[in-house]
Amino acid sequence: MALQDFWSLWIPTRWLKLPTNFWSKPILAFGFAAILTGCRQDMHDQPKYKPLRHSDFFEDGRTSRPLLAGTVARGEMHDDVAFFTGKNGKDDIDVFPIAIDKTVIERGHQRFDIYCSPCHGRLGNGLGMIVRRGFKQPPSYHIDRLRQAPVGHFYDVITNGYGAMYNYAAQIAPRDRWAIISYIRALQYSQNANVGELPPGMKAQLPSMDKVAPPSAVSSPEIKGSSEQPNIPKGTPATPMGEAK
Ligand code: HEC
Repeated sequence: MALQDFWSLWIPTRWLKLPTNFWSKPILAFGFAAILTGCRQDMHDQPKYKPLRHSDFFEDGRTSRPLLAGTVARGEMHDDVAFFTGKNGKDDIDVFPIAIDKTVIERGHQRFDIYCSPCHGRLGNGLGMIVRRGFKQPPSYHIDRLRQAPVGHFYDVITNGYGAMYNYAAQIAPRDRWAIISYIRALQYSQNANVGELPPGMKAQLPSMDKVAPPSAVSSPEIKGSSEQPNIPKGTPATPMGEAK
């Protein structure tokens, strides 16, 4: 197919027969119009400040203005002091600042398993996998001191860290910190619950005592010691990192 035939499929053939300079005038006219209208600069040269540039207008010479005293960024209104600090003045609070129900505890369970169990263990006994690999062993949550510690203390530990433990303020939002603490309380209770406190329906579901193996026969050496720093049981696969075998 000749080239001309090909083009003629797309363009009316008569156009192809037009003199070669047929389009030159309209193109010239259009070009002038484009240049003339494109010459306006007002949108390019706006009277605006760029961040941190010098300013002749403000006395301190800064274009970026300091915040007014008392400015609160959106979502940063931390007026509920107990909720955001776990403290009431100087003292740790001992009452949860949010309502605790099953959903909250379940949320706390999930967050605890994600963020705390690697070190504290799923039972809170301080024998998480990172500890077995050589990290400093935290105290068990089931020692008397931590069972009696006010909830505000736990909040403080999560928010600000404690000794060798880093803080989790960036990873865990305040509400989730309280949820985790509610779950820690549940864990603590689970290790110290009194059968007499069970509702009658549940008590009936318990296996009778003679069928339950005595604690010594249950192979959970991890939770036996409840001293402040229980020893890691022998035979734990502990190969501290960096240590030659
Ligand atoms: C990387 C390991 C690690 C993780 C993860 C971790 N902790 Fe700890 N935690 C420790 C260590 C180690 C200590 C003991 C610190 C010390 O005494 O120097 C500790 C101590 C504590 C204590 C006891 C403070 C006291 O009064 O003795 C609490 C409560 C605690 N952690 C809560 C938490 C909670 C809640 C989380 C999860 C949000 C968490 N930890 C996550 C390592 C960890």
